[in-house]
Amino acid sequence: MGAQKIIIDTDPGQDDAVAILLALASPDEIEVLGITAVAGNVPLSLTEKNARIVCELAGRSDIGVYAGCAHPLKRKLVTAEHVHGKTGLDGPKLPEPKIKLQEKHGVDFIIDTLMQEPANSVSLCPLGPLTNIATAMLKEPRITPRIKQIVLMGGAYFEVGNITPAAEFNIFVDPDAAKIVFASGIEIVVMPLDVTHKALVTTQRNEAFRQLKTPVGAAVAEMTDFFERFDKEKYGSAGAPLHDPCVTAYLIDPTIFSGRKINVEIETESELTLGMTVADWWRVTDREANAFFIGNLDANKFFSLLTNRLGRLPLNGIS
Ligand code: BDR
Ligand code: CA
Repeated sequence: MGAQKIIIDTDPGQDDAVAILLALASPDEIEVLGITAVAGNVPLSLTEKNARIVCELAGRSDIGVYAGCAHPLKRKLVTAEHVHGKTGLDGPKLPEPKIKLQEKHGVDFIIDTLMQEPANSVSLCPLGPLTNIATAMLKEPRITPRIKQIVLMGGAYFEVGNITPAAEFNIFVDPDAAKIVFASGIEIVVMPLDVTHKALVTTQRNEAFRQLKTPVGAAVAEMTDFFERFDKEKYGSAGAPLHDPCVTAYLIDPTIFSGRKINVEIETESELTLGMTVADWWRVTDREANAFFIGNLDANKFFSLLTNRLGRLPLNGIS
């Protein structure tokens, strides 16, 4: 089997950055056709810049980075500087990117790519609010049946909320977009907080990044140094949760993860539970299953894959 073609849709974010690095370090399994940025953890002007910084860190100035939507479909943008810092990538000192932002709008890049590539050959990997994906589906409905699968980070069931008591950040920021995506009929794999809170960068795992003794290893260690303080304080956990890298790790080795094919609906009306992923984990309704909802991972296998792949960057021969 050749490399899977993907578009990464992202709002970097330290954990988004690690997810992108993992994908770029794995050309045998993943071909990144382009990266689309969306407003989320920080405003769009920063997420698109951060995506360019990360590509450059990986030595992949050949990857096109496109700016997508600056605001959710119907609501005011909510950001998460309290988690990711003012720039979204606080922690390491990384140079200003030399890579230019592509002129095309991120939504048009998604549409054009899906229309040009053979049907069912391109997967979408959203790591932030689903605004770009839903906007593309609304603007050009013919793309929807052409998407191979969507593997996304978002939602929660047992862990419930991280931005409100009921909702996970990516879904909460644009619940209307999430509703469109979850109702699209496309094969969806969901990495909710239930699994990402088990992908914790312990001191030992962070030391393994540092011991790579490469610019990428040092940057990832410094990103997690910064990122962990929030979750350690809030949850008393052993380290930073690597939410978004679960998406790219799944593409490389799905056997690391386990879950259930279930129905997931998105709450868009209630003030109290806005953005909640109402996941029928126990299959108590007869609503049709629309998502493979991941609940667990082999954390040691995940971190050994991640550390090993990060150690390959920058890749020789591609830049
Ligand atoms: C998600 O929200 C962001 O803070 C992270 O990058 C991740 O995508 C976790 O709730
Ligand atoms: Ca993210």
